[in-house]
Amino acid sequence: MAQTLSIIKPDGVKKRIIGKIITRFEDAGLEVVQIKRLRLDVAQAQDFYAVHKERPFFKDLVAFMTSGEVVVMVLEGEDAVEKNRELMGATDPKVAKPGTIRADFAQNIDANVVHGSDSAQNAQREIAFFFA
Ligand code: RTP
Ligand code: MG
Repeated sequence: MAQTLSIIKPDGVKKRIIGKIITRFEDAGLEVVQIKRLRLDVAQAQDFYAVHKERPFFKDLVAFMTSGEVVVMVLEGEDAVEKNRELMGATDPKVAKPGTIRADFAQNIDANVVHGSDSAQNAQREIAFFFA
């Protein structure tokens, strides 16, 4: 069984759609095997998104991810990484497929409700980051 890391970002928590998002994972055959709610500090957010540190949006991304509490969870199931990315939809909700989490709930490319690991290797690193 594969595992991936999902984060419900501060906008998703503020909108009180944690349950709606988890229902989508469960209905698609992904099981929540670990979960917690927390607030990232700036150093943690910078470390988590370190791959993007040279990108022009890095500062905004860190500011957004530290703007409120998040829910982090480990999803387990067949093809968990790819399945979660499909359920999330494209980074920019304007181009995300109808019926995906971002198309249905996200405001814009910054406030896009969810994070998901983008490879099995990153999933391992990201799971260890929160659930050592
Ligand atoms: P995530 O890591 O949060 O799951 O999102 P993703 O893989 O779909 O997108 P990624 O390229 O990893 O970017 C991480 C987050 O940075 C913000 N972003 N802003 N303004 C922009 O052009 C821009 N590009 C990316 C988004 O919030 C994205 O989720
Ligand atoms: Mg990413």
